[in-house]
Amino acid sequence: MHRKMTLLGLCAALATAVAGTAVAADGQALYTSKGCAACHGEAGGAPIMPIYPKLKGQNEQYLLNQMKDIKSGARANGMTAAMKPTVANVSDEEMAAIAGYLAGAQ
Ligand code: HEC
Repeated sequence: MHRKMTLLGLCAALATAVAGTAVAADGQALYTSKGCAACHGEAGGAPIMPIYPKLKGQNEQYLLNQMKDIKSGARANGMTAAMKPTVANVSDEEMAAIAGYLAGAQ
């Protein structure tokens, strides 16, 4: 009985640890694999050009809205054309994960 309880406790602890990091890891992996870092830099905090925006720590909902608007063309001013081909292959779910990651990036 005691052994069984310990295993259950361990499983619960592992499940919590995995669930807690899943979203952040996913968004971080997508940020890299989708090529965002090429322009916005490490964790969105080091853009390659002074006129490119910093994303790190920005509000999550705002980040998501801008990605969607740049993808759809609703936002088409400034330098958005540079980014449009990249967001063309990013789904709404992937954008949400990336936004969550960037908003929480330290
Ligand atoms: C080729 C360069 C380039 C790539 C790659 C790129 N972006 Fe951008 N991004 C830009 C530029 C330039 C802007 C600013 C557009 C403007 O001038 O309005 C921008 C704007 C944004 C904004 C709006 C920021 C704000 O403050 O309004 C977000 C959010 C964003 N990018 C996220 C991403 C994500 C996520 C990816 C990867 C899927 C990505 N970008 C890939 C160049 C890029």
